[in-house]
Amino acid sequence: MKLFVDTGDIEEVRQVSDWGILDGVTTNPSLIAKSGKGFRETVLKMCELLPDGAISAEVVATDYDTMLKEALEIHSWHPQIVVKVPLIEPGVSLVKTLSDRGIRTNVTLVFSVSQALLAAKAGATFISNFVGRVDDISDDGMVAVEATVRMVETYGFDSEVLVASVRHPLHVVQAIQAGAHISTMPFKILQMLFKHPLTDSGLERFLSDWNKAGLHIFEG
Ligand code: E4P
Repeated sequence: MKLFVDTGDIEEVRQVSDWGILDGVTTNPSLIAKSGKGFRETVLKMCELLPDGAISAEVVATDYDTMLKEALEIHSWHPQIVVKVPLIEPGVSLVKTLSDRGIRTNVTLVFSVSQALLAAKAGATFISNFVGRVDDISDDGMVAVEATVRMVETYGFDSEVLVASVRHPLHVVQAIQAGAHISTMPFKILQMLFKHPLTDSGLERFLSDWNKAGLHIFEG
């Protein structure tokens, strides 16, 4: 499964890319606004920090003609950029247009398998299925992810299912169990994936035994 970081913060991308396990970055208008930096400069810096990564950058218009102009502009900035498009009627038409031109897309704000079907049929590269926002309203966001993975596999669509709006490591575990292709999550959740109390206590014991015995790797 690919791991993406969901952020508008360049420093977070720098830190996670140093781990060597990052496959991409997702941004959205709220995250870019929070960063306090320009959209183009932020996205271009992310491409530089993660040279093989998929960097999603979102259009903000809601009518087809303006969305198309924005999409072509964003796409022209860098070949690594994936144009992020909301799941609305002109958005689905736009994804079809972009996919016919070989431009990669990430369809966002997807909450149901029937919405995901529209994105897949339009040729979406990624289908961003939000889970946390559904859990927030007392439903189970993972149900749509499981159904979408099954739908993509059953009908042989090329789209990859991207689990978004991840709130905690259990969502990542559930995304793996559902067979999702990608999970995107905030930096702090990626850091939490490292954590296990038995890793900490086990390492402490190994190092204490080693040091007590006065051993060295480099001799002389
Ligand atoms: C996905 O691409 C979105 O940017 C993101 O996962 C939204 O997460 P949130 O529901 O925590 O805002």
